[in-house]
Amino acid sequence: MKPLAPRTGTGALGGPLVHLDTLTSTNDRARELAVTGAPHGTVVAAERQTAGRGRQGRTWSAPQGRALTLSVLVRLEPPELEALPLAVAVAVAEACEALAGVECTIKWPNDVWVDGRKVAGILIEARPTERWAVIGIGLNVNTTTDELEEELRPTATSLHIATGRPQDREAAFDAVVDHLADWMQRLDHPSAVAAAFRARDVLQGRRIAWTAAGARHEGEAGGIEDDGALIVFTDDGRRLRLDAGEVHLERRPDTGAPG
Ligand code: BTN
Repeated sequence: MKPLAPRTGTGALGGPLVHLDTLTSTNDRARELAVTGAPHGTVVAAERQTAGRGRQGRTWSAPQGRALTLSVLVRLEPPELEALPLAVAVAVAEACEALAGVECTIKWPNDVWVDGRKVAGILIEARPTERWAVIGIGLNVNTTTDELEEELRPTATSLHIATGRPQDREAAFDAVVDHLADWMQRLDHPSAVAAAFRARDVLQGRRIAWTAAGARHEGEAGGIEDDGALIVFTDDGRRLRLDAGEVHLERRPDTGAPG
């Protein structure tokens, strides 16, 4: 498998690049680097993660040499950190579109979808009191259907699967870093970040389900607020704000596809 050969020197984010063959998790290494004083814009990329992590305590696995698994350390003020989850999702969506000519939507808070399936996942681990965050991105670039974990095949995709042709991983790496750098400049305009998110919001107006305090709830997604909270309207007429967590699109009973 051909290893990634990212451009050398200072990238668009202005920090050094740490590119290693194997790590437990690029987020783990980026967090260590954050604590030991690495600069804003440090990028950690790995060919293989032995303990890749996803949101909500899940694991994240990707076949070696097929995906991009990278983490970016950003040093930001707390108000800028608030817009970060939305901005990163928009940046990754734009990068995929620029690279592969696909159309991307975003499932709150920050899953990037192509053709109704997840192509990229984002895990942000922030320390607002220490004014840093690690942005972890897993992007399925050249993963084939056979290489996707069997239980993920109905809901996951890759740029290769979506376009029917292999994609250049170096170009994907550059596109992600460039678009991230661009959106990092706009974090002090949360309404612009939210507007870009809304233009891709796959949940808007759709029937969704979520779990809170151990109970399952259903309602209709009513879009996001500028601070990134998801608005939901419950069947008994309440308007709720979901600040974090996981929501699920209700599946259409006839096909099992997202509704
Ligand atoms: C999710 O959708 O649950 C988020 C997945 C995030 C995966 C990436 S891969 C690079 C970085 N390192 C990790 O351990 N996780 C993130």
